Order: sequence, then C-alpha cells, then structure tokens
Amino acid sequence: MERLVSLCKRRGFVFQSSEIYGGLNSCYDYGPLGIELKNNIKNCWWRSMTYHHENIEGVDASILMHPRVWEASGHVAGFTDPLVDCKKCKQRYRPDQIDTPVCPNCGGELTEPRMFNLMFKTFMGPVENQTAVVYLRPETAQGIFVNFLNVMTASRQKLPFGIAQIGKAFRNEITPGNFIFRTREFEQMEMQFFVRPGEDSEWFEKWREERMQWHQSIGIRAEKLRWHEHGPGELAHYAKAAFDIQYEFPFGWQEIEGIHNRTDFDLGRHQEYSGKRLAYFDEARKEHYVPYVIETSVGCDRTLLTVLVDAYHEEQAGDETRVVMRFSPRIAPFKAAVLPLVRKDGLPEYAKNIARDLMRSFRVFYDDVASVGKRYRRMDEVGTPYCITVDGQTLQDGTVTVRERDSMQQERVASSELRGWIDERVRYD
Ligand code: GAP
Repeated sequence: MERLVSLCKRRGFVFQSSEIYGGLNSCYDYGPLGIELKNNIKNCWWRSMTYHHENIEGVDASILMHPRVWEASGHVAGFTDPLVDCKKCKQRYRPDQIDTPVCPNCGGELTEPRMFNLMFKTFMGPVENQTAVVYLRPETAQGIFVNFLNVMTASRQKLPFGIAQIGKAFRNEITPGNFIFRTREFEQMEMQFFVRPGEDSEWFEKWREERMQWHQSIGIRAEKLRWHEHGPGELAHYAKAAFDIQYEFPFGWQEIEGIHNRTDFDLGRHQEYSGKRLAYFDEARKEHYVPYVIETSVGCDRTLLTVLVDAYHEEQAGDETRVVMRFSPRIAPFKAAVLPLVRKDGLPEYAKNIARDLMRSFRVFYDDVASVGKRYRRMDEVGTPYCITVDGQTLQDGTVTVRERDSMQQERVASSELRGWIDERVRYD
C-alpha cells in the first residue's frame, strides 16, 4: 500500500486534500491521471447501466434534500455507530474496532458507548437554528426513490425498470482510513431496480450476477473477488437479503459493492411521510402495488482503489525492476503515448501530427524527452496500454511500431489505421 500511495502522489493520481495546510484527515483530491481514471470507471458503469439496458434511466439529484427524506429513510433515527471517548487524551473509537477495554493510544479510561449519527449537518438560509437544519446526503439512493414517479412518468417506463445515479455522498465516519477506502466524502454509483413483489428474488439473482461480471469487465481479476452474504445480524433495517462483493486488499477482504433486496421499504416510507401515493398500476393485472427494489450500490473511489491495487505490479525486466499498472485499456488514463524515436529528421513533427489526430478521440500523451526505454517505463508506471513509436521507417511507409504494455510485444501498424486500431481495444461495449 505504501508504494502504491507514493506512486499515486508522484504520478498525479491522488493527493491529500489541502496538503499545503497539513492536509484534512480522510479527504483526498484526484490529480490529472486520477480524474481520467475515475471518469473512465464512471463511464463504464454508466454505459453498462443506461446504454446497455433500455429499461434503465439516469438521474442526477441534488445533494441537499428535504430533511423529512432522512426521517422517512430511517437515517435520522438509525444511521449511527457506537462511539467511546478516551477521558484522558480525548481520542474517539468505535468499540467494535478496538480490542482493549482502555484507550489503545494512552491507556486512559474510556466512556460508556453512545450512539453517534454519521450524517453531516448544515444550515439552509441565514439563520442557524434547528428549523434550518439540512443534511449532506449519506447515500445517493434516496434521490432516486423520491424521483420514482417523476422518472417513470417522464420516460414512460413500465415495471420492471431501473434508475441509475452517480454522485457524492458524505458520512462522518468515526474511523476512516486505508487511503481512499473509507473517507468522509465519496462518490457512489447506485442503481435502484423496481420490480413487482414476488419477482424480487429472481431479479436479485440476475443483478448479483451482472454486477460481479462488471467488476471483471473493467479488468479486476476474478480470483480477487468473492461474495459475502449478510447474516441476520448484519442485514440493514430495510433489507430482506444482501450480498457484498468483496475484494482482497493488502489489508484483507473488504466490501466494494452491496447488492440489496430493499423490498417496498423505501417507497412505502416515502409514501407514508410525504402523503403522496407511490404505487404502480399494473395494467396487465389491473392492480396497484408498491414496487420492490433491488439495489446495486458501489463506491466509485473504492472501485478506483480496487483498480489501483489490482493493477499494481513490480516485475524484473533485465536488471531493473519495472513498475507497471496493468489497467484494462478500457479504463487506463492515457490510451496511448506517441513517441518519436529521436528528436530529429522530422520525427517529432510526424509524431505530433499523429498525437493531434488521436487526441480528438482518446486521451493520449506525447513525449520526446529521454531515451525511448525510459519513456516506455514512464508510461508503464501510469498504465498506458499502447506506446506508438515513430521511427525512420515511418517516413518511408507510414507505419509505426505499437508496443503493448504487458507483453512488451511490438507490431507495426499503418498510422492511418491507428484510430480504429486503438478504438477496437479501448471501447467499452
Ligand atoms: N444505498 C446503500 C448504501 O449506501 P453502503 O453499503 O452503505 O450501502 C455502498 O454503501 C457502497 O458505498 C460501499 O460498498 C462502498 O463501496 C461505498 N462506501 C460506503 N461508505 C464509504 C466511505 N466512507 N468511503 C468510501 N466509500 C464508501
């Protein structure tokens, strides 16, 4: 993890937030390569949901919502973790995460556990009193539930159908940590699939299968993924069944995605709290019912960490160690680098033209500084799948060499065909 965190900073994937002020605990910023990687992950998710399913629509709900939403959802009453304070050094812990009856930091006496609500509060308008309290959403899901009728009416969808959303969520976690694994501000990619009660278990299984496939479709190794089924003591208040997809991180097997059968809990509660009818009229059966919901919920930042961990490889190449990020070409920040073999004989000009042409379709990187071997290594370290080298032969026959990152094999490709050649390999379809 240490080497990965250092690479992330050095090469511009992830920075500590407000670093010049000493950093803000558990908050991170994405640098030039991090944001490319993140956008690519989000794109693959978005495409897999909305482009590949004619019955899934997208929304982008606001982060601030009516405070009653969080009463209806159960978050005001129940989105809590137990917390103990050290009476001496004032450190705070979740009692289930420490194994001593005293403070692990100073040995001081601990207070009795009390429940701590994880929602961030703020005030709406100029008056900071209880009636002005609003929350930063702790999950994106509720923005979907409250828009169920709007989306269904506007898109003329019929059950079964889904609503997908990517957006920020905030939780005042007591023990954030492991780099970007658990932070207080993060992004979720959630999809709520509305079905007829009685068909929920079948859809639950379908979505489980599809979501496991998705992680592999962005290049995560299958052997590092597994299922974890929630036992009765673990199930959230709204869930009838829940499975997590876990990944084997250097710090152990941990959840990256949750798939939940949320029943009619959410729509039922919003119906009750808002007074608006959220039932669906099934024309074929001539009956009204509140749909059941199958939810797929994955952290974007956590997926990004998974992808970074999974891609990181150190290997011996001759007498040096090659660090290579084996990102799937679908999500790699740069799809290709364009390198003139030498900085003379018109090669840089030719290479720049190729780069300029490819840039209109893909994120590519032009580099003519240092030996070509060094330039390859720099691209390996940020996971660029293809290095295109312009050499003497290019000027004669218009072909370039394309070096593949993992195998280091080279092949000659006509420069006029490069765009299609790359597109075929990086497209998510
Ligand atoms: N709507 C259901 C829901 O929010 P969750 O299991 O609490 O379920 C879903 O969260 C996913 O969101 C997790 O699997 C994880 O990937 C991500 N996530 C949750 N809390 C997080 C945090 N503090 N930092 C980063 N990602 C988090």
